[in-house]
Amino acid sequence: MGPESALEDAVGTVPRADRRAHPRTYLMCPPTYFDVVYTINDWMSPGDRVDRPRALSQWATLVDTYRALGHQVLVIDAVEGLPDMVFVTDSGVVVDGVALGARYRCVQRRAEAGYVLQWFRENGLLRPRSPRYVNEGEGDFLVVGDVILAGTGFRSDPRSHAEAAAHLGRPVVTLTLVNPHYYHLNTALGVLDDSTIAYLPAAFAPESRLVLRRMFPDAVIAEHSDTQWLGLNLVSDGLHVVLPAQATRLAGQLAARGYHPVPVDYSEYLKAGGGIKCSTMELRGFRRFSEMGS
Ligand code: ARG
Repeated sequence: MGPESALEDAVGTVPRADRRAHPRTYLMCPPTYFDVVYTINDWMSPGDRVDRPRALSQWATLVDTYRALGHQVLVIDAVEGLPDMVFVTDSGVVVDGVALGARYRCVQRRAEAGYVLQWFRENGLLRPRSPRYVNEGEGDFLVVGDVILAGTGFRSDPRSHAEAAAHLGRPVVTLTLVNPHYYHLNTALGVLDDSTIAYLPAAFAPESRLVLRRMFPDAVIAEHSDTQWLGLNLVSDGLHVVLPAQATRLAGQLAARGYHPVPVDYSEYLKAGGGIKCSTMELRGFRRFSEMGS
């Protein structure tokens, strides 16, 4: 290693003091009926029964973690017969208070979208839209600053990307996923702040890798040893990064960049192919509670 790259390396690892946490509002759904009873992704095998008390306690810990960090957590009721509804993030995307609902590819999850859209209506979100094309909400749409990164390849229809751009008024960048293990964008890419992401290059088609490299030259590059625990299925407030406890290498990479990793054990949900971000929908621009000053 030459002196220059040694210097670059050292500079890259100096923790930045200017990172700031921004308070967020999250929508979550308790795992009351969480189970693995069908197979719609590579992670799921119905023989692998869920330990529900363990799932409940891991979910409650996640809620407590967000609240302890100063974030607002709102809760939508779980519905019997919808075992994946705990992954509520897949049911919509909210930007500036404007809500785009989901349309699920798999029939098993289709009814979830209607319950969440109804919640959007009842809770004052703007222009709640039932989409025309298949899109699995924040499973495939990730907001980075003013831009929305949008996944396709397994779940969301690429035509939903233009629909999202038109409804939400933000530019949308299409990214193609190629590894069935990373079937939603949020299993292969995590948003750290308004201009920084972490991702697993191998999960993307070559042209999408090029796009990511161009757009995010400073991205954190993740490895399989962390992504196999859904390490990239993380939730960041710009400073604190809530991520799976098992993603230890990634936690180290984040700490070296000045983020504060907040490890949470969420392993029971791996049985369904879901993780922390899948359970946490961000309501950007949600007004009701903040207007009341709480
Ligand atoms: N079993 C669910 C499915 O396959 C898990 C969804 C997890 N959500 C996510 N955004 N990765 O749809």
